[in-house]
Amino acid sequence: MTPFRIAVFASGQGSNFQALAEAAAAGRLGGATVDLLVCDKPEAPVVKRAQALGIDTYLFRPKEYDSREAYEAEIASELARRGIDLIVLAGYMRLLTAVLVKPYEGRMINIHPSLLPAFPGKDAIGQALDYGVKVTGITVHLVDGGMDTGAIVAQQPVEMVQGESRESLEAKIHAAEMKLYPQAVSAFAEGKVVIEGRKVTIRH
Ligand code: GRF
Repeated sequence: MTPFRIAVFASGQGSNFQALAEAAAAGRLGGATVDLLVCDKPEAPVVKRAQALGIDTYLFRPKEYDSREAYEAEIASELARRGIDLIVLAGYMRLLTAVLVKPYEGRMINIHPSLLPAFPGKDAIGQALDYGVKVTGITVHLVDGGMDTGAIVAQQPVEMVQGESRESLEAKIHAAEMKLYPQAVSAFAEGKVVIEGRKVTIRH
């Protein structure tokens, strides 16, 4: 079987990165392998996690480049060199340009901590709490260059209790993400994802 190689992009804690790497190591990622961590913050905790798991890292500092296109072009050649099939954004805190979005159209996904199109952008959990919704959730979507606007691949609701604290909601959302994201990546690796415009179907 040809390997299905993924690169995870992350900027922070890396709990989703870890869940994906562990799923891959346990053979629970549809045969996919986590080949690379791409990180724009070399001091982020996710980098230590990658090192502990023996996963290669591609680290860079955006301010050392003239433009986003410039560092993305370097990342694109690294991904091409490694034959990366799917880019998985997991807490990567930067918008992407066409340099990466175009060649990976339909092959780049993100996880967002709300039921999109509600609460796109930064601090979706805080936005949901401030708005007072009773149900929020998580969304896996394709990346299209906009802010959390790509076609939806998978969603899962997360119910809120009265007086829900931010900490408890964050914990529930993270737990849900760590299950749903590996399932979504597996579907891609197994070739089960059918994309027709904004309609994405997962074949069983
Ligand atoms: C997750 O909540 C994800 O939904 C959002 O960023 C967060 C990353 O958390 N895009 P972690 O770095 O995986 O712990």
